[in-house]
Amino acid sequence: KMAMSTSASAIPAEEQARLVEESKRLAAHQAVKDHLIPEYTRIGIGSGSTVVYVVEAIAALGPGVTAKMAFYPTGAQSEELIEAASLNLQYINKLPAGEQLDVAFDGADEVDDDLNLIKGGGACLWQEKIVAASAKKFVCVADFRKLSPRLGTNWKKGIPIEVLPMAAPRVLHELKQMGSHNPRIRPGLPGKAGAIVTDNGMWIIDAPFSPLLLPRDGESGIQAGNGENGVWTVDALADRLIKIPGVAEIGLFYGKNGLEVSTGAQKPVAAYF
Ligand code: 5RP
Repeated sequence: KMAMSTSASAIPAEEQARLVEESKRLAAHQAVKDHLIPEYTRIGIGSGSTVVYVVEAIAALGPGVTAKMAFYPTGAQSEELIEAASLNLQYINKLPAGEQLDVAFDGADEVDDDLNLIKGGGACLWQEKIVAASAKKFVCVADFRKLSPRLGTNWKKGIPIEVLPMAAPRVLHELKQMGSHNPRIRPGLPGKAGAIVTDNGMWIIDAPFSPLLLPRDGESGIQAGNGENGVWTVDALADRLIKIPGVAEIGLFYGKNGLEVSTGAQKPVAAYF
């Protein structure tokens, strides 16, 4: 809030960076305070720089609270975070069939007015979605920069899509036909040649689209959001993307993406700004 009430350009870069970190930390500590109750035994831990503060807040509760809890990572980074904080590491494939995590905490790249998310800026979206889908409650922790009315307004890099490398060229072609502006294979981290390789041996394509509509945007009948002229609603685009052969998972997290809506999972119950 502090940062939003001030013109960003008037703030020196270093101060801006400090405000962002402070915002992430406040959001994370508040989320843990509000949504991690001592009776919980299974907790999902997402990926990214905001989740670092979630783990910090959980570790600060002390072994008296955390010793009975098991923590389920969404990839190599969160696995390291859990271990570094001396929390009990467990894996989602060890979760007994039909049982759920009590809660999962994760970050986001953009959050719209209906709390739909773009995720995958850190290339961890596939495991993140599995952990989110396994949780009774999904808590999205996001700083003030992440909120925008429609997905694709602030996050211009595109929707992260995890693909089988051999399918990447034709997925790119299909994305262009669907109206994506300049979809690209994400390059490796600095110093690493070639494409980025996910924890699952896949590549990431970042596919920018025009800002994604919500169902109520179509009520006027002006824009249907069914892909005509490259204009999509979140649901229509997600349904279409996941059907492209070679697409493993997409970085759109929304209410009913393969989930039982009754669990509430994947739809964030809270986003903090
Ligand atoms: C990684 C993710 C992250 O949660 C997302 O990129 C947010 O990261 P950060 O907290 O560093 O802004 O989806 O794939």
